[in-house]
Amino acid sequence: VTAGPGEEVMRAIATRRSVSRVRPDPPPRALVEEVVHAALHAPNHHATAPWRLVVMTGDARSAISPRLERAPVVVACCVVTGDDPVTAREDRDAVAAGVQNLLLAAHARGLAAMWRTGTMVDEPDVREALGLGPHDAVVAFVYLGLPLEDAPAAAPREPDGSGSVVWRGW
Ligand SMILES: Cc1cc2nc3c(=O)[nH]c(=O)nc-3n(C[C@H](O)[C@H](O)[C@H](O)COP(=O)(O)O)c2cc1C
Repeated sequence: VTAGPGEEVMRAIATRRSVSRVRPDPPPRALVEEVVHAALHAPNHHATAPWRLVVMTGDARSAISPRLERAPVVVACCVVTGDDPVTAREDRDAVAAGVQNLLLAAHARGLAAMWRTGTMVDEPDVREALGLGPHDAVVAFVYLGLPLEDAPAAAPREPDGSGSVVWRGW
């Protein structure tokens, strides 16, 4: 195995953390476009492109819910799918992978980000305002913003793999 461009990627994966408190001013749109686009690189069985990403700022947030005003930019990461259960499951998995791409891209570009769901994702008026069909869903509301200047650095974390990772035949 040769070293690829991996160190930065591995470091980004290990150091990404949810950040809930952000500055009220929105990040530059070009930066938001770049991190949102990262979601589209997610693996996607049968290339169904099941994601619909609604990138909101200003009043567009409160048009969905005042709760989205906790950050200047909110990306509703939705899965748009059909009634085949296997495809629906795989489509949702692909969108979830896209959400993680988005979070890692935000981290890589110095933006604060947080994946939120809560009861909002199931509320009929929220679903309607996002234009979701009967099989569609909000997988994540990703809150994005510029980090606070005095934000404390997140404590490093080393997940304990025992119990989560099982090695067989090694
Ligand atoms: C599917 C999903 C839904 C989540 N929903 C919420 C939420 O509604 N509110 C919240 O505060 N955090 C939510 N989170 C963020 C987790 O709480 C957070 O990822 C967890 O505390 C671990 O922290 P970290 O992201 O810094 O590693 C959600 C995360 C996932 C994966």
